[in-house]
Amino acid sequence: MQWYLPGHGRSDANLLRVNVLPIAKYPRLRIIWPPMSKRSFAIALFPVLALPWSLFAQAPSLTVQVDHPTAKVSPTLYGLMTEEINFSYDGGLYAELVRDRTIGQDWQALAHWTMVARGNSVVDISADAQTGPSAALPRSLKVRVTTATDAAPAGVQNDGYWGFPVQPQTAYSGSFYAKTDSAGVPVTVSLVNDETGATAASATVTGLTGDWKQYTFALKTAQVPVTANNHLILTIPRPATVWFGLVSLFPPTYHDRPYGNRIDIMEKLAAMHPKFLRLPGGNYLEGDHISERFEWKKTIGPLVDRPTHPSPWHYRSSDGMGLLEFLEWCEDLKIEPVLAVYAGYSMMQEHVEPGSALEPYIQDALDEIEYATGDANTKWGAERAKDGHPAPFPLHYVEIGNEDWFDRSGSYDGRYAQYYKAIKQRYPDLQLIATAPIKSIKPDVLDEHFYMAAEQSFADSNHYDKTDRNGPKIFVGEWATREGEPTPNLQAALADSAWMTGMERDSDIIVMASYAPLFVNVNPGGMQWETDLIGYDTLTSYGSPSYWAQVLFATHLGTEVVASTLANTGPRVYTSTTRDEKRRKLFVKVVNASSDAAPLNIVLDGIPSVAREAKLITLSGKTPNATNSITNPDEVVPVEHHIQVAGPKFEHSFAPYSVNVLELSY
Ligand code: AHR
Repeated sequence: MQWYLPGHGRSDANLLRVNVLPIAKYPRLRIIWPPMSKRSFAIALFPVLALPWSLFAQAPSLTVQVDHPTAKVSPTLYGLMTEEINFSYDGGLYAELVRDRTIGQDWQALAHWTMVARGNSVVDISADAQTGPSAALPRSLKVRVTTATDAAPAGVQNDGYWGFPVQPQTAYSGSFYAKTDSAGVPVTVSLVNDETGATAASATVTGLTGDWKQYTFALKTAQVPVTANNHLILTIPRPATVWFGLVSLFPPTYHDRPYGNRIDIMEKLAAMHPKFLRLPGGNYLEGDHISERFEWKKTIGPLVDRPTHPSPWHYRSSDGMGLLEFLEWCEDLKIEPVLAVYAGYSMMQEHVEPGSALEPYIQDALDEIEYATGDANTKWGAERAKDGHPAPFPLHYVEIGNEDWFDRSGSYDGRYAQYYKAIKQRYPDLQLIATAPIKSIKPDVLDEHFYMAAEQSFADSNHYDKTDRNGPKIFVGEWATREGEPTPNLQAALADSAWMTGMERDSDIIVMASYAPLFVNVNPGGMQWETDLIGYDTLTSYGSPSYWAQVLFATHLGTEVVASTLANTGPRVYTSTTRDEKRRKLFVKVVNASSDAAPLNIVLDGIPSVAREAKLITLSGKTPNATNSITNPDEVVPVEHHIQVAGPKFEHSFAPYSVNVLELSY
């Protein structure tokens, strides 16, 4: 602390320094007293120094005007963004366990299938492009066994997505398409441990003929150890040739949906309390080339009729996660889709000119909307009913394309306008999202993306404070602080949280926001994009610190932003405060990204009283590099405390490197 000696001018010679508080924290503190001598000043000062500093210092404070809402919080603020990247569906959420189930679509050679020959048996395997189970899947896996017995069978094995997850007392549902040149040859399907050779479960399928047909089987494990080190084996006990196609095995799924989703990952998503799912991408919507776009019509109906397609993230998508599965995923989480429709641009700078050339693509989008929302009397609603879902899905937002600012042809303005006119004509209530600024018409919503270093997220956390409220609403459709891999560390979570305080304060204009990417398979080769919200391997999954920050913010959203002023804190403190007037709850979010604790005098103005007990949830760690991982999933997780609050004015010191939600009842 430093004073100028009273009556002696403001030169440095008259500057008296007293180390009461760390000077570095209050560099601009100057107190001017009335004229007096050095001695009498010192005598006068003594009792003053004995007083608590808080009586006259400018203490760090957060003043909240609880009765003064400044904006409505968007009820749909936090949601999910998804696409096939980092083995998000295949080898991720979509619970299929067999890898390359449709047999070598990418390569002439077989991938993930190898031969098995017990004892003296003899077998060769190949990809057969001459025969397959359907027109969409014209290839098959040819298994030619020339020597085999019951004791020494032969066949083929699949290595799964980094193994097969075997759990005790678990029922797995399997199926394959097959035909044979030796009618009646039995096929035994087994889950076998890679290290011990022990069979965890086994079933035999009979009745194969010379025609393609689907066969189903069930594998039930007994009291076996939990392990991912397994493979799936299909063997034949005598000489025969068998062709296999679409070989599938599913563990139990979320809500028991056939061909459904992994339970652990869906539970993590449910805990985020999202409000929407932006689907199906991302770059995955556009594809590298127009011919590789997400063609939704090729992703519906029986799996055997889905041809699969190359994704821009360097592996082929099985399209098991097709349009209906996306919509059912929303249904399972009780959220709405934000349906992104292909809009005539693919990433290798291929585009469709606005005008007649674009019309078939627009028709495709209209059909897609009808598939999602039309009743069973409409053409595409009937198709959805035929696919097993008679009830239409709710839909309020449709996004036209993805990141069309990359389209250097400048065609997006015209393309968006053409889609806008056609969709609004048929669906006037739909809100249509643009993915780049448009001049010819005002889009309903503009999707903006931010991938940031932590410093940027902190520095730009008030990005939307000054955005024109008469312009389009904003959808922050992809955003993330990219620090840490495969999943973000605590530093990223702190920066994300600072950014979220801004989005929350500005959620009168930001209608929705979704972190991206959502998923990563942490096995070697599983990641194409670093810093992803939720990580998993074959057996388990975990939430990153940023995941937990999302959980905290989304589950304590509030309905209105209230006026608040943060004063005299260090530079790394960020807050936002919302209330839920009906529930009489106040949610104070405090992000302390510094290495020191952040003491705050919290002043709740405009309310007579506050409940003495408050809930405080804190996400923190010892260093900004603290993180979670597949082997250490709970290093940085929220901890809930109950704290006593003296009244509408109280003090609390927030831990170093912490994200906090203080829930108060008033
Ligand atoms: O989230 C990864 C990618 O980033 C998305 O596919 C794309 O939209 C963005 O460029």
